[in-house]
Amino acid sequence: MAKRTIVTMPGDGIGKVVLEESLRVLEAAGFDAEYIHADIGWEFWCKEGNPLPDRTIELLKKHKIALFGAITSKPKDKAAAELAPELQGKGYVYYSPIVSMRQMFDLDICMRPCKTFKGNPLNFIRRGKDGVIEEPVIDTMIFRQNTEGLYGGVEWTNPSDQVYDALMTHPKFKQNFAWCPRPELAVSTRIFTYKYTERIVRAAFEYAKEKGFKAITVCEKPNVIRETSGMMLKIAQEMAKNEFPEIRVDNTNIDAQMMWLTKNPENYNVIVSGNMFGDIASDGFAGLIGGLGFACSANIGKEVAVFEPTHGSAPKYAALNPSIVNPIAMVMSACMMLDHIGEHEISTRIQKAVAEVVEEGKVKAYDMLKLRGCQEVIEQGAASTSQMADAIIAKLK
Ligand code: NAI
Ligand code: MG
Repeated sequence: MAKRTIVTMPGDGIGKVVLEESLRVLEAAGFDAEYIHADIGWEFWCKEGNPLPDRTIELLKKHKIALFGAITSKPKDKAAAELAPELQGKGYVYYSPIVSMRQMFDLDICMRPCKTFKGNPLNFIRRGKDGVIEEPVIDTMIFRQNTEGLYGGVEWTNPSDQVYDALMTHPKFKQNFAWCPRPELAVSTRIFTYKYTERIVRAAFEYAKEKGFKAITVCEKPNVIRETSGMMLKIAQEMAKNEFPEIRVDNTNIDAQMMWLTKNPENYNVIVSGNMFGDIASDGFAGLIGGLGFACSANIGKEVAVFEPTHGSAPKYAALNPSIVNPIAMVMSACMMLDHIGEHEISTRIQKAVAEVVEEGKVKAYDMLKLRGCQEVIEQGAASTSQMADAIIAKLK
């Protein structure tokens, strides 16, 4: 049988380091694959005027499964200024390659697990009854709609006549916003489609069923955002009734959910949200289990799937040698990839190895020591990125 192929997109900054170290872990765990490098990120924007070159799109189309490190993104005017001199003034416009990739390949289902590692010094603790310190065990999967909603990019400043006239047909707009001079008006839409809302809700139900969880939580704001949040909640309630009668639908508002984060996070196992609220909820939960060094994710479409840590390229650490950043978020993202392609045994072994390293506590990256990131952390006892990977590899059985 031909070897399995995986596209690797290191990207910029620490993306390169964490991906390289994760590939070492995969290899040591016995995952046999051919890795196909693909270009993405700032370097290619500057050199070619395109942070997601066509050759990368072709590789994704062909091989379908990808590991992605992180990229550097900058505002449009900065992007224009950093473009190679020969490309300047030729009409190149910067767009985030991540957003482009998600929309191009319909990577509509984003899964962001937030699971407590026993012994992680970064775990959330709270004061319980009688003043006892409690460390709740969190096991939450956030299902975030990845392509629509407020991040869908349908927005205007100083909208055209057509758009403005259409807005004026809405009584609330007419009543509350007609006073505003048009050049001072900015509008960002929040579009949900039935098709994609149904897909993300279904993914949440199927996951809950597979894992034996009794409820999913729709985390939106249907009392205020009636049309879009309301649609997601309604779809979930209908689906529960017709297809998943054993699973309850809970309903929280995003603002209240953020407050409950510090009260009872262990009560939420499966959360489903639109794009922005899913982003917020997943960062909130990630903060309880160790933050960016631990937060992994999957972007799953019908054909293509991309696995990435949720952190960015952390430019201020990119040049440090040895690198100090925590590779666990990327390693855990690679485990999500393994699970997606059916390599559960290898994935489980790697996850166990990571859990053992964290619980044993002998090898800790600077974030786990709660140090401010700089080169000196190594002298202060922090493990380098590759020492963390070595420690994980040493625990593989
Ligand atoms: P960032 O996630 O790169 O870094 C923020 C801070 O989090 C770092 O300074 C560091 O203290 C910590 N951190 C991040 N990854 C870590 C790790 N593996 N181990 C330990 N600590 C870690 O976010 P920032 O600084 O806001 O953005 C930097 C660049 O990354 C920007 O250009 C931004 O646009 C881009 N970005 C890219 C993302 C992606 O590729 N998916 C996501 C977020 C930001
Ligand atoms: Mg985020």
